[in-house]
Amino acid sequence: MSNQAAWIPSKGARLEVKESPLTKPAPGEVLIKNHVIALNPIDNKIQDLGIVVQTYPFVLGFEVAGEVVEVGEGVTRFKKGDRVVGLAVALRNQNVAHAAYQLFTICIERATAHIPDGIPYANAAVLPIGLATAAAGIYEPNYLAQPAPGQSVGDASSAKKSILIWGGSSVVGISAIQLAAASGWTIVSTASPKNHELVRSLGATHVFDYSDPDVVAKILKAVEGTTLIGVYDAISDPTTSVKSAEVVHASGGGKLIATTSGGYERSGAVLLGDVARTEPPVWIGVWREFLEERLKDGKFKAKPEPIIVEGGLEKIQEALDLLKKGVSAAKVVVKL
Ligand SMILES: NC(=O)c1ccc[n+]([C@@H]2O[C@H](COP(=O)([O-])OP(=O)(O)OC[C@H]3O[C@@H](n4cnc5c(N)ncnc54)[C@H](OP(=O)(O)O)[C@@H]3O)[C@@H](O)[C@H]2O)c1
Repeated sequence: MSNQAAWIPSKGARLEVKESPLTKPAPGEVLIKNHVIALNPIDNKIQDLGIVVQTYPFVLGFEVAGEVVEVGEGVTRFKKGDRVVGLAVALRNQNVAHAAYQLFTICIERATAHIPDGIPYANAAVLPIGLATAAAGIYEPNYLAQPAPGQSVGDASSAKKSILIWGGSSVVGISAIQLAAASGWTIVSTASPKNHELVRSLGATHVFDYSDPDVVAKILKAVEGTTLIGVYDAISDPTTSVKSAEVVHASGGGKLIATTSGGYERSGAVLLGDVARTEPPVWIGVWREFLEERLKDGKFKAKPEPIIVEGGLEKIQEALDLLKKGVSAAKVVVKL
């Protein structure tokens, strides 16, 4: 076996495919032969702005789906040949062996999950970052609410609680909606009209067009009679932050707005930064106790749909360029 990666050679440079070391998994890790790699808006930001990476050349990428080829000491949940999806943490440990944009990636066992039969690699690969980001922003202590799904089921009063998830058709928003649905809350969300049906099908109770000038009033009407626990702003650009704040203000204030834009290291609290708020972080519990089972019984859907770019590592740069143009209820993935 030999490895190759799509390297970012220097700050701001375009990716180049070259050999890469093939590393053995350490205790608690698995080595995955990647079949599909998923791309994230942050990958473009890192490349364009030259942020986060400490030394070049480096390998980017957070999400892989493939088969286990080797497990490290102490790993009992996985064995050679298992079909898995994993969150790659190279930007946390600055270790390219843990990056996604290559043929083989090391993932930590607790950030790896089995893919049920019937779910293709390309569909599973859309999940890791969206799920981890949504779980951290909603359920970490001192964020919006607890407990996370998998830790406990919602109680009888859950339906009286509501959450606004701004950007329900985004990758992160889709996971946030499905987690909030598992918590049993009333979910109000925003998306373009063409995506309303999808967002409802995943568990949203009310969906509004975010470009509607009356969107805030409509959201406030929808949460009447419930206790708004807060806002999960999956988009977190200046306009969505203002609208989220308007909702919180008009509903009496004193609610938190969780964002996805709070500086890479902070958001990385998910896993990637130093501000891990619980140990293990909440999303790990969601990953282990909730995701595998709910994917299997169909209650958690591997959404959004992937836009599949064929052609292997050589196509990752092209696929990043495609993602930069913007997607709607979709995730760009590259098939190896
Ligand atoms: N903090 C972290 O660890 C972390 C992790 C992952 C992502 N992020 C950040 O989170 C953001 C979302 O990432 P993503 O991968 O989920 O994005 P994405 O799916 O690529 O975003 C595209 C989606 O955003 C929706 N959208 C765009 N503008 C909107 C608005 N004003 N209001 C509501 N929805 C809007 C679009 O909805 P329609 O097509 O329906 O119009 C589309 O479905 C990005 O900024 C990303 O960098 C942060």
